Amino acid sequence: MTKITWLGHSTFLVGVDDGPWILIDPWFTGNPSYPADFSLESVDLLLITHGHPDHIGDALAVAERFSPEIVCNYEISHWLGSKGVGRAVGMNKGGCYHTQGVRISMTQAQHSSSIAEDGKLIYGGEPAGFVVRQPDGRAFYHAGDTNVFSDMQLIRRLYGPALAFLPIGDLFTMGPKEAALACEFLQPSVVIPMHYGTFPVLSGTPDKLRGELGPDSTVVVPPLAPGGSYAW
Ligand code: NI
Ligand code: MN
Repeated sequence: MTKITWLGHSTFLVGVDDGPWILIDPWFTGNPSYPADFSLESVDLLLITHGHPDHIGDALAVAERFSPEIVCNYEISHWLGSKGVGRAVGMNKGGCYHTQGVRISMTQAQHSSSIAEDGKLIYGGEPAGFVVRQPDGRAFYHAGDTNVFSDMQLIRRLYGPALAFLPIGDLFTMGPKEAALACEFLQPSVVIPMHYGTFPVLSGTPDKLRGELGPDSTVVVPPLAPGGSYAW
């Protein structure tokens, strides 16, 4: 059983069945939807989809506390290295990286990426998503921040993720209508919505997504609140 805990926004802790504790897009500080009573105990692997503060915000703190292996794009790995982080693995889209019993594939995302530092924006490489293949053969997909794109069909063909974390908040990413089309391209069994509700402008909701999917859809959109877990 894989245990997925939503830490608000796009931050997830995934305890992979017979595998590592994976933290994705760490953002606690200043995250209005971070569950205040949550205590993070273990991180073996840290995945970062892009450089925006709501995805990388606590990466340095997590690196310092847990010394996880960090997987991200080349530019962010270089930036982390400049901050003294020793275990950052840079990769790029289309590539895969085997570690700790999982296979991580970096996928396209249609968005932007930069790192905010001292009031300036530093080039943050290109935004990405990740597909993680677990030791049990099942794969999940964290889309990062993205619009829907037709090459999600390639992600399905190549990796067939049965569970997808998809942004639905609108404004900075796709909203429910676009996410429903993403479901058509990806054909996952389970979709965990993210990047919504953190601020009022991120107005997409799981109910709107369910509405867009329609009554005949077989996609499961489990009810999940920040701090809550889903057993997969
Ligand atoms: Ni972003
Ligand atoms: Mn974001």
